Amino acid sequence: DKAGHKHFMAKEIAEQPAILRAALEFYTDPKTGELVLPEEVDFRDCDRLVMIACGTGHYATQVAKYWFEQLAGLPVETDIASEYRYRQPVMGARNIGIFVSQSGETADTLAALRHMQGNVAQTIGVINVGTSSIARETDVSLSIHAGPEISVASTKGFTAQILVLLLLALKAGRDRGTLSPDQVRGHMETLRSLPSLMAQAMDQESAIEMLAGRIAESRNALFLGRGIMYPLALEAALKLKELSYIHAEGYAAGELKHGPIALIDKSMPVIVLAPRDALYDKTISNMQEIMARQGPVILMSDEAGLSEAGEVWASLAMPTVPELLTPFVYSVPAQLLSYHTALARGTDVDQPRNLAKSVTVE
Ligand code: M6R
Repeated sequence: DKAGHKHFMAKEIAEQPAILRAALEFYTDPKTGELVLPEEVDFRDCDRLVMIACGTGHYATQVAKYWFEQLAGLPVETDIASEYRYRQPVMGARNIGIFVSQSGETADTLAALRHMQGNVAQTIGVINVGTSSIARETDVSLSIHAGPEISVASTKGFTAQILVLLLLALKAGRDRGTLSPDQVRGHMETLRSLPSLMAQAMDQESAIEMLAGRIAESRNALFLGRGIMYPLALEAALKLKELSYIHAEGYAAGELKHGPIALIDKSMPVIVLAPRDALYDKTISNMQEIMARQGPVILMSDEAGLSEAGEVWASLAMPTVPELLTPFVYSVPAQLLSYHTALARGTDVDQPRNLAKSVTVE
């Protein structure tokens, strides 16, 4: 049931505010507003976190790496399941493994879990399908509460994954004393504004639709971000390529002059994700290098960020959001851009060619 939408993907993008609200409620004590996670989840003795996934789940873990480092001071590794399973990774008795999978059936992620199981302190699943193999085989499994995701391209799955990973990072901070109980409460309070800010980001849909018409004519596109916007750029590029078959790459903005700037000319649209945060100035100076080479820039930023940046080829106005929430809110325009580009190109939105929703063979 597409609930009145043309595609499952459109429905799944639109339902994110409601889903994230419900997921947040599920992990919140209704009386005290405190974060509640299963008792077994305990980061006090953890000396290293290893997060494993494929595709979009992998980008979710890369977003979460910033949070675990910043909020909990934990050493973090992220890995692609198909790589991890065939290496001899060093596993420690005080390590915790986190396995992120929407379906819970991805063959490589399951194999990586079996590779790690028994060699570390604990494995945690961050899963949508509660009855799945990965949910069953991890020591503790946390549901992302996204409801069925039908569209092959993951949207609500991604934002619900990063929500649960953020909650785990807050728990880690509380366990390890890098966050005071008050600070955790403050972050939980901040999270309560997430659904309405996500809904606000969706107001840009008609502006995004117009831009998508232009992107649809390109053969290539680049997404740039710094800090936590970097893995988001990777995720945005994955979304565009799987939906519209346009070759897209995500880059850390600071890597531009180490190679990809050679690609820049009039025909290379560059989408810059730059909320007005501590790294804004750096990203904008990279953006100016692109403009100096006639690259058409689409800047995604908030009001302050857009007015400071001056004239660009196109801009998308995002709400002003607390730093903790930028990865959620900036996911929305990236999802909508790939959706409308696919529509403009007439590709199969919910079932892109050559792809399967759940990759159960390696
Ligand atoms: O079910 P999983 O989360 O384990 O799936 C992992 C990837 O196959 C999946 O995220 C894939 O990259 C999506 N098509 C991305 O939109």
